[in-house]
Amino acid sequence: MRHSSCFLLCLMRFAAPFAMLAIAGQTLAADLRRGEQIFKQCASCHTLQTNSNGFGPTLNGVIGRNAGTVPNFRYSPAMTEAGAKGLVWDEAALSEFLRSPKSKVPGTSMRFWGFWFRSEIDDVVAYIEANQ
Ligand code: HEC
Repeated sequence: MRHSSCFLLCLMRFAAPFAMLAIAGQTLAADLRRGEQIFKQCASCHTLQTNSNGFGPTLNGVIGRNAGTVPNFRYSPAMTEAGAKGLVWDEAALSEFLRSPKSKVPGTSMRFWGFWFRSEIDDVVAYIEANQ
C-alpha cells in the first residue's frame, strides 16, 4: 500500500516539471489563436463590440480604460469605486484581475475563476488587445 502510493507520488513529482516545461515552451510568445479560444469563456458575458453590453460590460477598448466606466452598464459599487480611485485596465491590472477577480476588486460582481496557467491569461489579454 505504502509502496504504491509512493510510486504515484514520485511519478508526479518527476513528471510534473517536464510537463510544465513543455507547456511553457509551446506558449512563450502570446498565442492569439489560443487567446481567441480562451475568450470564448468570457464571451458568455462579454463582447468586444462597441456599445454591446451583455451580462458584463463590453470589453471593446478596455485596455487603457478606467475601470467601471462603460456607459449604460450597471457595475457593482466595488468596481465603480475602484475606477474612481484610479484603477486603469493596463495589461498588468487586467492580468491580476483575471487571475483572481475578487482579490483585485473585492466585491466585484464578476464571477470567474477559470484559469490554471499564467499563459492562458497572457494569451487572452493579447487577444483582447489585438481586437480593440
Ligand atoms: C459570468 C459572467 C462573466 C464572465 C464569464 C466573465 N466576466 Fe468579466 N465581468 C462580468 C461582470 C458582471 C462584470 C462587472 C463587474 C462589476 O461591476 O463588479 C465584469 C467586468 C469585467 C471587467 C472590468 C470592465 C470594466 O469596464 O471595468 C473586465 C476587464 C472583464 N470583466 C474581463 C473579463 C474577461 C477577460 C473574461 C474572460 C476571461 C471575463 N471577464 C469573464 C461578468 C463576466
